Amino acid sequence: MSAVLAERIVAPSRIASCHAVVLLGTGVVGGAFLKLLDTPAAASLRLVGAANSRRQQVNPAHLADRGLRERLKSEGDVRDDARLLAALETCGTTSRVIIDATASVGLATRHPEWLARGCHVVTASKALAGGDLADWRALQGALARGGRYGDSATVGAGLPVLATLRRLRACGDRLLALEGVFSGSLSWLFNRYDGTRPFSALLREARACGYTEPDPRADLSGEDVARKLLILARNAGFALDRDAVEVTSLVPEALRALDAGAFLDRLEILDAPLAARHAEAAARGHVLRHLARLDRHGRARVGLVEVPAGHPAARLRGTDNLFALTTTRYRAQPLVIQGPGAGPEVTAQALLGDVLALG
Ligand SMILES: NC(=O)c1ccc[n+]([C@@H]2O[C@H](COP(=O)([O-])OP(=O)(O)OC[C@H]3O[C@@H](n4cnc5c(N)ncnc54)[C@H](OP(=O)(O)O)[C@@H]3O)[C@@H](O)[C@H]2O)c1
Repeated sequence: MSAVLAERIVAPSRIASCHAVVLLGTGVVGGAFLKLLDTPAAASLRLVGAANSRRQQVNPAHLADRGLRERLKSEGDVRDDARLLAALETCGTTSRVIIDATASVGLATRHPEWLARGCHVVTASKALAGGDLADWRALQGALARGGRYGDSATVGAGLPVLATLRRLRACGDRLLALEGVFSGSLSWLFNRYDGTRPFSALLREARACGYTEPDPRADLSGEDVARKLLILARNAGFALDRDAVEVTSLVPEALRALDAGAFLDRLEILDAPLAARHAEAAARGHVLRHLARLDRHGRARVGLVEVPAGHPAARLRGTDNLFALTTTRYRAQPLVIQGPGAGPEVTAQALLGDVLALG
């Protein structure tokens, strides 16, 4: 057991200043967060529970085990949210935090309830704030009664986009337009796609590198980007429902109902239409980029568009995200936030940052 971890468990004098943490999800992001817990930056955090979809652990000795993530795959108690909450509520700290590092809609809809019980919620999941408008409103209602909601990891994997947007709004600034590339995988794909290799080959490479979801339709559909756009729009004061976002999917109708294996076998169907769009764009000196856009009237659109070579999105590299905010005070030139918008380490760091920001 590391010194940091041992101290976190056995030093009762420090308990009152600790953040007691339950971690839901020990996948890519949750696993990176567990690694961060073992660093000095996380010394004020005390893990009192951890769970994947099937098992959980509340025993301090097992929680301190560096092999916790692996062990949870085959060992531990059966999943029981009530037991995790009890572990949090009886641990003696004033700051109790539930970290949602899953994509579970069922868990996300419980965020308002956890806030009402006096816990803070820190989340990488977009399922609540980027889901139904009614759920967003339930969240705002719960937050008005207390608790804090750490959502930095939901957009841009921790790039300071939401914090900046809220800060501008608190100062009386108003969002007039938002435009950007909100998906690391789609950024990578279209930064690379120059017509020399079939799009399907690039997609297979992106999947092999872990840039896309195991079923790349989750990225190509634009739904994940739409959720991020909804989160940003709602934080900017636009009470948009999902139906208000026009999403143009890159997945042809014929490939939508297939199982994941059959879809991956037929990726070449994507090639000809995208090659034609690329050639048309190139003839005008333009490139293709997957953009999310919101205007001052709340019109929200997500999809593949042509942009001129001088457009900021045309100059992106790798899996970079881009967020260009035009506001009443950033009117002549937008405020631009750019950087890696995906990845376990930066996302886990965003979760830790949100916990530490609780004070
Ligand atoms: N990966 C990124 O770069 C990134 C960046 C920003 C945000 N995010 C968001 O972060 C979240 C997690 O992403 P990920 O890449 O870590 O996904 P992942 O690797 O698929 O991990 C998801 C984890 O959630 C667990 N889980 C599912 N339902 C659960 C439940 N009811 N209770 C407890 N645990 C449950 C899964 O358990 P099993 O292991 O048993 O399946 C798994 O451990 C998602 O919402 C994603 O959109 C990811």
